[in-house]
Amino acid sequence: MKEKILQATTYINEKFNSSPEIGLILGSGLGVLGDEIEEAVSISYSEIPHFPDSTVSGHKGKLIIGQLEGKTVIAMQGRFHYYEGYSLNQVTFPVRVMKQLGIESIIVTNAAGGINESFHPGNLMIISDHINNIGDNPLLGKNDETLGERFPDMSKAYDPKLIQHASDCAKELNLQVHKGVYAANSGPTYETPAEVNMLRLWGADAVGMSTVPEVIVARHAGIRVLGISCISNMAAGILDQPLAHSEVIETTERAREDFLKLVKKIISTIPK
Ligand code: HPA
Repeated sequence: MKEKILQATTYINEKFNSSPEIGLILGSGLGVLGDEIEEAVSISYSEIPHFPDSTVSGHKGKLIIGQLEGKTVIAMQGRFHYYEGYSLNQVTFPVRVMKQLGIESIIVTNAAGGINESFHPGNLMIISDHINNIGDNPLLGKNDETLGERFPDMSKAYDPKLIQHASDCAKELNLQVHKGVYAANSGPTYETPAEVNMLRLWGADAVGMSTVPEVIVARHAGIRVLGISCISNMAAGILDQPLAHSEVIETTERAREDFLKLVKKIISTIPK
């Protein structure tokens, strides 16, 4: 794996030879932030050595490296999901590459279903912790000690200083932002109402199909993590209506002005 990471990194460095400080993973409907990156170099996943083959999922994705709010950032516009048939090693490979390129912090974003009944579609949630209910873990198998330790501590997976910083930024912008626990399922089915009730009893505030594998690998690699969910719908069974992916995308797009404002502010004043 180390060899593959180095080859991918070398390829990217040939196109952009300066170290990004912050990584961004942009979730469904939130990719627009990538378009705001200045002096941008954009690289399709399909050209990067050892990046997962995105023809599997049928959607294109790209890395965008450049300047945002005075910081050098690297953004993933589109991510790989477990439900598309990728292994968690493949899903998280870009995080390994971003680490090798030099990032110290990562902002991981997603669209999620609201489980906490005080939430409303369109709200933003700063992730305070997560529940891995995927039934898999990207670190299973032989551990490469040069990448991280065998048994990573997850007691503060989401950096307390970054959580505080994100809350402060939201307050300054007059944005109402929740804080809560994100549970990840494999998907691609949405949850049953019984599963949503179970997740609520477990302490989850929102549910989705991503983020947790990337955060596990980021922590293994010693990267500071901030997670932000856009509540795109209420989880199954809370409102008496079926869930539709089109609703998820529409609501996320409605919330994206707030999302953009918040993330840009977080980046412009991110603490060391
Ligand atoms: N469940 C799982 N994943 C999701 C949801 C949901 O309700 N909304 C957006 N992603």
